Amino acid sequence: MLAIFFVCFCLGTNVYAGVIATTSTTIGPVDTTTTSDSFDEDAELKKIAETCFTYTNYEELSGYTVRRFYALDLGRFLIRESVEAIGVIELRTMLNLEPTPPWKPWNNTDPSESDLESAATIQAYYELKEPRSNARSLDNKFFYEHNKATGVAYLDKRFPAIREIFRRRFEKVRVSMELVDRKGIDRMIETYYKVYGSVMDAIAKMQDWKKYRMRCLDSCNLYCIV
Ligand SMILES: *[C@@H]1O[C@H](CO)[C@@H](O)[C@H](O)[C@H]1NC(C)=O
Repeated sequence: MLAIFFVCFCLGTNVYAGVIATTSTTIGPVDTTTTSDSFDEDAELKKIAETCFTYTNYEELSGYTVRRFYALDLGRFLIRESVEAIGVIELRTMLNLEPTPPWKPWNNTDPSESDLESAATIQAYYELKEPRSNARSLDNKFFYEHNKATGVAYLDKRFPAIREIFRRRFEKVRVSMELVDRKGIDRMIETYYKVYGSVMDAIAKMQDWKKYRMRCLDSCNLYCIV
């Protein structure tokens, strides 16, 4: 039985050359364990929204390169790019693609329909459609790639739920398809934008100035206000 399964699997892979083969042996079991536990996405987002994120936290987020006011300005920008970077890393991982390459010069031209149509492989198609930003390119005028890396590491430590939400949502879509074709890539990318939107809503609430003052007065002394 097992032998038959593997034969079929190999034939399938050949037929669908150019389509990412399902690694059902690795993804299947992971899915059943993760969906059976009690991860509550809304509760996790609420926790982020209600966090007292202090100036000191902004300083740490930006790698203690600048202080308070600069750290706040930099940090607001850095959080957004770090959330995007985490989403894209998880997206590539779930699609079995190589990790995000180092930053490149910004290409201001969006791929045309004919660029997409003529993409030779599914990976090439993905790369044309991957969410991108000139803030995650060598043309970023505000911070370096290593600042972004520090931001990602801090978010992973402070809000591991962000990566987890992306991962779980991608996994749900991924296991619903046998093989990932272009439509599958599009669905994964739509999922990316949905998750990105809900994470950034939570972060916008966390950064709401009036609520921030009330929240932080409760949980820390005046030094963390200004
Ligand atoms: C920029 O992107 C367009 C559209 O994807 C592509 O046709 C072009 O070759 C790219 N230019 C460079 C320099 O990579």
